[in-house]
This record gives sequence, structure tokens and C-alpha cells, in this order.
Amino acid sequence: MAATPGPSRIRVRIVRPDDARGLVPLFEAFYGAYFGGRVTETSVAGRLRQAANHETVIVAEVGERIAGFASLRVTDSLDPAPYAELTDLFVETEARRLGVASRLVKYVEGIARERGASHLVVLTGQKNTEAQAFYRSAGYEEYAVAMRKSLKVAETR
Ligand SMILES: CC(C)(COP(=O)(O)OP(=O)(O)OC[C@H]1O[C@@H](n2cnc3c(N)ncnc32)[C@H](O)[C@@H]1OP(=O)(O)O)[C@@H](O)C(=O)NCCC(=O)NCCS
Repeated sequence: MAATPGPSRIRVRIVRPDDARGLVPLFEAFYGAYFGGRVTETSVAGRLRQAANHETVIVAEVGERIAGFASLRVTDSLDPAPYAELTDLFVETEARRLGVASRLVKYVEGIARERGASHLVVLTGQKNTEAQAFYRSAGYEEYAVAMRKSLKVAETR
């Protein structure tokens, strides 16, 4: 990326189907082997369709290119307010520390609030100190211990 853009050159919006091509390098960099197949315009378009019922994907453009994305899940639950989770967040290396993630997260928070959520939850890696620093700077606090279990080995019920 050439010159350092001011915040006004960062535009944030809901993803469109024709963003698939621009998202390929970002998905490659962020998901890598976890994507589970080749990252191509077609496969990214397929994943965007797959996620569409349950996730809202947001992109950030810096100039003419997509430099970051985020995804939000808001689901009704037994709680009075829906559960909202920022499920993914990525900014390409060349566009970091310009405020791109901050803009994405503000936008996501606005959507979650509009849909009635009272909090926005994010899970990030224990070793991902950069992301943790970012979330703290954006006002997030640790509030739980995340645990998980592989479901690949079948167990009898
Ligand atoms: C974490 C990430 C999304 C931050 O994106 P970004 O666009 O660079 O963040 P911003 O420019 O909006 O940063 C805002 C503030 O967060 C903090 N921050 C961001 N990155 C930081 C870092 N690497 N180290 C320390 N603080 C950081 C700073 O306070 C920063 O303000 P400053 O630049 O004025 O000091 C980006 O580094 C990234 O994509 N990392 C890899 C993917 C990832 O880990 N995603 C999260 C998975 S849940």
C-alpha cells in the first residue's frame, strides 16, 4: 500500500457478492490451511453465501482495495437480549495501525446494538497478544475462560 491514508480514506460497509475476488488475498492470509481448500474467487464467494444466513460480513476499503474484514453473529437465545459475537477480524499487514480494525469494530458494534444486543463478545487466541492489545484499546475486557473439545471422536450418548 502506498501512502498512509487518513481515516476518511477508510470506508466500511457490508460485503457484496462481487467482493469475493478482493477478499482472496485476505482469506489466504488469515485462514490459510484452516480454510479447508484452495482460496479462490469461487470458493470465497461460496463461503460468503454459506455464512450469509447467520453472519454479517463487513469489509473495509482503503482506496480502491479491500484491506480488512470482520464478521458478526447475532443470535436469539434464552437470554432476553440476543447474543452477539465478533467472529472474525483481519486487516492486511500493509494496512495495520491505520485505524482500519477500529473502524470495522465500531461498525460491527453499531449493527449489534441495532439488533438489540447488550454486549459484543470476541474470542481470540491466548498467544495473540497483538489482537488482545487491539481489543483492550477498543474497550474490551476479559470476562470468561474459553474451553473447547474436539467432536471428531464419536462418543455414545
Ligand atoms: C489485530 C488487528 C485486527 C488490528 O488491526 P489494525 O487495523 O492494525 O488496528 P487499529 O489500527 O485499528 O489499532 C487501534 C489500536 O489498537 C492497538 N493495537 C493495534 N494493533 C496493535 C499491536 N500489534 N500491538 C499493540 N497494540 C495494537 C493500538 O492501541 C492501536 O492504536 P495506535 O495505532 O494509535 O497505537 C490486526 O493486527 C490483524 O489483523 N491481526 C491479525 C489477525 C488477528 O489476529 N485477528 C484477530 C483474531 S480474533
